[in-house]
Amino acid sequence: MPTHVVIGANRGIGLELARQLHARGERVVAACRTANEALTPFARTLTGVDVTDDAAVAALADGLRDESVDVVWVVAGVLVRTTLDAPDPATCQRLFDVNTLGPLRVVSALRSQLGAGAKVALITSRMGSLADNDSGSHYAYRMSKAALNAAGVSLAVDLRPAGVAVALLHPGWVRTDMTGGRGLVDADESAAGLIARVDALTLETSGSFWHMNGERLPW
Ligand SMILES: NC(=O)c1ccc[n+]([C@@H]2O[C@H](COP(=O)([O-])OP(=O)(O)OC[C@H]3O[C@@H](n4cnc5c(N)ncnc54)[C@H](OP(=O)(O)O)[C@@H]3O)[C@@H](O)[C@H]2O)c1
Repeated sequence: MPTHVVIGANRGIGLELARQLHARGERVVAACRTANEALTPFARTLTGVDVTDDAAVAALADGLRDESVDVVWVVAGVLVRTTLDAPDPATCQRLFDVNTLGPLRVVSALRSQLGAGAKVALITSRMGSLADNDSGSHYAYRMSKAALNAAGVSLAVDLRPAGVAVALLHPGWVRTDMTGGRGLVDADESAAGLIARVDALTLETSGSFWHMNGERLPW
């Protein structure tokens, strides 16, 4: 039975991913900063996992030291609007810490638990696409996700010799807390698409940027 570690499993897209993977009969380790009763069905819950905190990420890796991990899903992320009038460097740095360095910390800490055939799913955003940006603004979020995309390609190169594949995945515009309930799809449709993308991921397609609907996205 495959084991999935979902980082940011307590709500939103992460919780729905955990639910659907559990419903398939697979083992879910739900990692988050603060647990809630929605996590009760899952095999394990690991709390205090703040992806900006090196010690917390090291503790996550320690908590998983006896696990064989098949898929790591790094879903944790934040969006704060920044504009040209108020780019707010502190917000830019915070979003970079969570959205870019967070996934890099997690994958670096867990890489010894990822054997041949394991997969890394990084939940990025098409707002990190340079080619797709025709609406501007959102400096902090766009920069943090563009940098995550760059990190994801390097991870795909670095993990290939170990037989580990990496996907960069846009979940769609999803009705969650992050979007204030606005969007085109609900979390269940998004999670189903993301799971289909990761099921199909191979070393040949590692390092690519996909919409959850299967469309290949431009950098
Ligand atoms: N919703 C969309 O339309 C959309 C579109 C493109 C990309 N995305 C990406 O999809 C991912 C999930 O988004 P969502 O819509 O599900 O958002 P959400 O409902 O706001 O959930 C965000 C998740 O990230 C966690 N998180 C935030 N900061 C964290 C930190 N420092 N350490 C650990 N966990 C942290 C939150 O945990 P707490 O409860 O502890 O805060 C929560 O589990 C994000 O990476 C987001 O950028 C979403």
